[in-house]
Amino acid sequence: MKEILLMTHVMLGVLSILASLWVFVDALNASEGNLERIRLLSRFVPMVMTAGFLVAGYWYVNLYPADKAIILKGPWPFAHDFFMETKEHLVLMLLLLAAYLPIVASANLALNHDARRLTLWVSALIVLMGLLMEGEGGVISMGVRMGLLTH
Ligand code: HEM
Repeated sequence: MKEILLMTHVMLGVLSILASLWVFVDALNASEGNLERIRLLSRFVPMVMTAGFLVAGYWYVNLYPADKAIILKGPWPFAHDFFMETKEHLVLMLLLLAAYLPIVASANLALNHDARRLTLWVSALIVLMGLLMEGEGGVISMGVRMGLLTH
């Protein structure tokens, strides 16, 4: 069961990345026809990002310490010391960007070019930082495997 928690946070993280990418592409082609979809998707992003954060946070506090000990005793201590340490700080920026997205995307992006440009930047930053979180997660997970393989 506990592994399902780990996989669930990844799934929710990836959903927030894909929804932000959709907002980006729709905002690039903003028109009266897709404004409602942009607004709906922009509200979906903070919902799944927050759910992912809560699930991952539970894992991090209750279950990760065992994996952290394996990583630090193994050949890839940087998987925790650098990648997990930066990941847990990056997520705070991601949560702020995700909270801001529906606010800026509530404007009429077909008419308001400043709001459209801001929506493009915010959604693009969520996608790029989400992919970074994904990559860091992969390094952390490999750090556990390297630790298990060498002990
Ligand atoms: C966009 C959001 C996120 C994405 C895409 C993401 C992705 C991933 C991936 C792919 C892994 C490797 C899973 C595996 O073992 O195969 C992982 C591991 C991990 N993530 Fe995330 N993550 C996200 C957010 C978070 C947050 C917010 C936290 C904590 C506050 C977090 C904490 C962790 C921890 C502790 C691990 C290591 C699990 C272990 O091996 O014990 N992640 N993440």
